[in-house]
Amino acid sequence: MVKKEWIEKGYADEPVEEGTDLRKEIRRMCAEKNAVLLAHYYTPREVQECADFIGDSLALARKAAATDADIIVMCGVHFMAETCKLLSPEKKVFAPDLNAGCSLADSCRAEDLKRFKEEHPGYKVVSYVNTTAAVKALTDVVVTSGNAKKVIDSFPKDEKIIFGPDHNLGSYINSVTGRDMLLWNGGCHVHEKFSVEAITQLKKEHPGAVVMAHLECKGPVLAVADVKGSTAVMLKYAMEHDGKEYIVATESGILHELQRQCPDKTFYPVPPEVGEGTVGCMCNECEYMKMNTLRKIYNTLRYEWPEVSVDEAVARDAVKPIERMLELS
Ligand code: 13P
Ligand code: SF4
Repeated sequence: MVKKEWIEKGYADEPVEEGTDLRKEIRRMCAEKNAVLLAHYYTPREVQECADFIGDSLALARKAAATDADIIVMCGVHFMAETCKLLSPEKKVFAPDLNAGCSLADSCRAEDLKRFKEEHPGYKVVSYVNTTAAVKALTDVVVTSGNAKKVIDSFPKDEKIIFGPDHNLGSYINSVTGRDMLLWNGGCHVHEKFSVEAITQLKKEHPGAVVMAHLECKGPVLAVADVKGSTAVMLKYAMEHDGKEYIVATESGILHELQRQCPDKTFYPVPPEVGEGTVGCMCNECEYMKMNTLRKIYNTLRYEWPEVSVDEAVARDAVKPIERMLELS
């Protein structure tokens, strides 16, 4: 039975009996209920270690579309669980904590995008996957940072495009494709905090290190990076190249998988620039991703709550641009 206080809190806040081996119990319930646990690279290390599959946004979307499990527990943020539901409507999709949002997704409200589209007739809308289902429903094709260039390159050269909500990613894609897309002015509060100064300082201490930056970082940060891309791109690069040291400008959760895959290499997380007006947590962590805990996952499986749903009419339109992305990438 779902308790009223859980609904208020957004997660099943039930104490767990002392001595419970959460990881073992989670795995037991997954087997019993034919559930699959998907986790993003930014979630806490114990969550990544307990998951069936870890990946970047693109890989998680692909996995959600392909799994034959009856239940998906999406350990990430809310838009990722929505994407799972859109791609697998017949499955039950759970998110361990409904409060796990995304500052980037929040920077683009569907009603604002709708108005912007009306002001710019004839434009195609390309949206980053970090958006609500309602925004995706107004979109022609979705992209992730792992496939944005490829998807944009698939449009005719003279296509008029609105790109949102990440301004940094949009500027970067404009620069590498020679496009002049109209950019939404949104951003991620974690990636916006990385600075050239912090990277320069680390580079002084480790002159031979390769600098890797996520495409959500600001233009000047991307300009000094040797490797620019999604979390999966960074991981692939570190696994396939000889470099022994890496300076990493993205959410620090990725360091767990980097270190696991490359135990003989050293990774230095870039500290954030903390200044006046800084919002959210004062670190290179996404507080939303860190809301995924073993206890919440355990309770989610036990009580099969909270379930993520998408309005049917919204879902009908929102799934199309995601499927289009999967076809193109
Ligand atoms: P990836 O697509 O690289 O996994 O990024 C997701 C994200 O939320 C970055 O902040
Ligand atoms: Fe959203 Fe930024 Fe967190 Fe990624 S790191 S989920 S973009 S708030």
